[in-house]
Amino acid sequence: MPEGSSDLRWAKPLRIGGLELPNRLVLAPMSSLSTLPARLIAQAAGAGLVVTEALSANALLRGAERRHLRQGISHGEHRLAVQLFGAEPGVLAEACRLLADQGTHWIDLNLGCPVPKFIRKGAGSALMQHPARVGSIVAAMRESFPGVLSVKMRSGWDAHSRNAPEIARIAAETGAELITIHGRTRTQQYRGRADREMIRQVVEAVPQLPVLANGDVTQPCDVVAMAKETGAAGVMIGRGAIGNPWIFEGALSLAAGEGFCTPTAAMRLASLERHAELIASAARNDRERVRELRRYASAYSKGLSGGRRFRVRAMKIEDADRLVALTRSFLAETGAEAA
Ligand SMILES: Cc1cc2nc3c(=O)[nH]c(=O)nc-3n(C[C@H](O)[C@H](O)[C@H](O)COP(=O)(O)O)c2cc1C
Repeated sequence: MPEGSSDLRWAKPLRIGGLELPNRLVLAPMSSLSTLPARLIAQAAGAGLVVTEALSANALLRGAERRHLRQGISHGEHRLAVQLFGAEPGVLAEACRLLADQGTHWIDLNLGCPVPKFIRKGAGSALMQHPARVGSIVAAMRESFPGVLSVKMRSGWDAHSRNAPEIARIAAETGAELITIHGRTRTQQYRGRADREMIRQVVEAVPQLPVLANGDVTQPCDVVAMAKETGAAGVMIGRGAIGNPWIFEGALSLAAGEGFCTPTAAMRLASLERHAELIASAARNDRERVRELRRYASAYSKGLSGGRRFRVRAMKIEDADRLVALTRSFLAETGAEAA
């Protein structure tokens, strides 16, 4: 039986390396979405760990990605994993050293990203085709990094090479302490359903390590089902947490035998206000601020009556303060109608 036996292990603390996570619900790394404001909001809503979007190990060594890190560290994000992508063991090891010097406690290696920018460099899910290279990379990172080292992968490259259990075993033997598996192959991108049977096979392949199950968890009850069907120690949530940080506290309430309520417009409004403040202090310039606000204003309006019309209007606004004001009045009006 892998690491404990209860179906509700995901709601329990996890001691790993020198860290203690209050639970094993994790905000997924998502490019342009798992930004500092979103990570802080997710942690406040109960996420046990948050992960940065994938940062290039090469760019980090050139100095290009360091701002991301300074931001996270200065906000005291202790339960934070920094995700790295790259293809060269030496470069990744060097990036690990730099991150360790800057106070990073947890590094996650990206073996899952399907986008051509990664694949052309032999990084992300391209590495799933090269098990021996994965071993060399993880071993090199392990040697240079004293903190927690984890790996996030897909089911495999394509339907003919669904080798996640083999890659998980190699990562475990060379020094990874936790594995996340998104149950889709690279060629599937985001199509179809995440394969829970494949996730279960990874759980069984590395019984000594905690495994996080990932893919298509959009409601608190999906967390329960995902953990039960796969035997995973924890669950990583991506798109389902965008504009819906309550998924974390909802799932934890279910585990405690309590109910949870669907987020109301008033709850969305309060969270949007906080989120907008965090975006204002984290963004480097107005353009960045508007871009991030648009993504989240749109996410907080999903599923509400009139949401589609609101999003069309919001996408055209170029001024951050006007966008916040419009979102505020949309959510306030929707809340008043529902009351
Ligand atoms: C916009 C977007 C950006 C993503 N960026 C990353 C990334 O930087 N690193 C990574 O490992 N996965 C990335 N992913 C994949 C997610 O972490 C996750 O594995 C995937 O979305 C499936 O989980 P979900 O169904 O809960 O969203 C990204 C996904 C999306 C939708």
